[in-house]
Order: sequence, then C-alpha cells, then structure tokens
Amino acid sequence: MDPAINPADTPVVVDLSAADVRARLREALAIYVAAMEYPRGTEHHRAPMWAEHISRPGWRAVGAILADPNSHANRDSPLVAVAYGYRGAPHQWWHQQVHDGMRRFGWTEEATLAMLSSYFELTELHVHPAAQGHGLGEAMLRRLLDDRTERTALLSTPEVDGESNRAWRLYRRLGFTDVVRQFTFTGDSRPFAVLGRPLPLHLAARTLRTPLTTDPAPPL
Ligand SMILES: CC(C)(COP(=O)(O)OP(=O)(O)OC[C@H]1O[C@@H](n2cnc3c(N)ncnc32)[C@H](O)[C@@H]1OP(=O)(O)O)[C@@H](O)C(=O)NCCC(=O)NCCS
Repeated sequence: MDPAINPADTPVVVDLSAADVRARLREALAIYVAAMEYPRGTEHHRAPMWAEHISRPGWRAVGAILADPNSHANRDSPLVAVAYGYRGAPHQWWHQQVHDGMRRFGWTEEATLAMLSSYFELTELHVHPAAQGHGLGEAMLRRLLDDRTERTALLSTPEVDGESNRAWRLYRRLGFTDVVRQFTFTGDSRPFAVLGRPLPLHLAARTLRTPLTTDPAPPL
C-alpha cells in the first residue's frame, strides 16, 4: 500500500516508540520494500526480524509522517519513512559478520575489537520513493544518532558504481568513511560496504583508524 502523498502535506520527523512500530509494522515494511525495490512478499520474511529487533538494548526508531499543515500531526497520519537501529553486541549475527569482514579487510584484531566494543548499528533507513529527495533521510539519521552514548555509528549499504545513489551521498555528506568494502554477508551474494563514523555527530568527521593494509608507507 503506497501512502497517498498530497503535495500540501508536510512530512514531519517523529520518534517512534516500540508500540508505534509494532502497530505500524506492515506500513513500515511496505516503505522498506518500495524504497529498496524488493519484490512483493519480502516484507513477510522481514517482519519477525524487525519485531525481534525492537527488544534489543539501545533500540531507537524514528519515522516521518504526513502532517496536514491545517491540523495537528497525529499518530494516525500516514508514515512515509522509517529508520531504526540499536547497540551492537558480540552475539549478534551482523556484529560477527562485520568482525570477520574487518579482519579480512586488514584491520588488526585489537582495532576490530576496539571499534566493535561500542557502536550503534544503523539497521534500516528508508524513505518512500514519493517522498525522497527532500532531506528527510538526513533529518531522520541526525535524529536517530542524536545523544547516543556509543562511540561509533556503523551501517552496511549495497555497493553501487561510483557511489552514485542517495544513500551513498547522504552517508558521505554526514562523514561516514570506509570500514570494509566489497564485503559479502553470508547468504547474500551482493557486495556491501560497511561504513562508520565517530559519535557524537557534531564531532568533526574524521577517517576511522584505517586498516593495516591501507596505512600509508612510513616516510623513508
Ligand atoms: C537513502 C535515503 C534514505 C535518503 O533519504 P532522502 O530523503 O531521499 O535523501 P536525503 O535526506 O539525503 O536528502 C537529500 C536530497 O534532498 C534534497 N533536499 C531538498 N531539501 C533538502 C533539505 N532541506 N535538506 C537536505 N536535503 C534536501 C537534496 O538536494 C538531496 O538531493 P540529491 O540526493 O538528489 O542531491 C532514501 O533515498 C531511500 O530510502 N533510498 C532507498 C533505500 C535506501 O537506499 N536505503 C538505505 C539503505 S542502506
């Protein structure tokens, strides 16, 4: 179901509670499927996973709802974007995959463990295609990362030629740098990049400590 987007309506970024996401899970997954251009039916596989993630420590979600400027935005307004994440932990599948990926990419075990000891995983960030290109993704990402206690934010995103899509432009604009490139997660043949950024977001972006293999040669 696509949200009917009225040009007079202004999307407003709001925090979503666990109850909000549970109640709007189908709506949120429909945005995910439309944004990622996944085949219909994908949402059925993802629903139990999204529901389980809600109970993970440090989980936080935001969304964008369509507000009629002439009335107060309310919880029944259509959702046009959704994003969430949580604190990473060693028993999590994504954490283990990224640990392996970092080691293979050349990070030392010490640097890998240091990075993975305190991070917020940006798990999902999706804006309905009809609402993309107006700064909503950036506003949601900023809100999601605001006031986090973790030292780093990490995410994975599909590799794209020339990094030429909105997701890549957004992450680069907000200072995310390479942690792992051309990584294939178990069970998915597509290459992904893992990107990261120190927190808090207002800290100047700097390249996270680079893996050994890409360290510049010492001066002679
Ligand atoms: C990636 C995604 C979340 C970005 O959200 P978005 O709202 O479309 O984009 P942004 O918040 O980055 O907005 C930036 C764009 O809005 C435009 N814009 C307009 N007003 C703006 C404002 N006030 N502030 C910032 N950008 C504004 C910018 O010019 C920019 O356009 P450009 O990317 O064509 O140069 C969204 O495009 C999406 O869901 N894509 C498909 C799914 C996906 O790839 N998800 C991420 C998987 S890891």
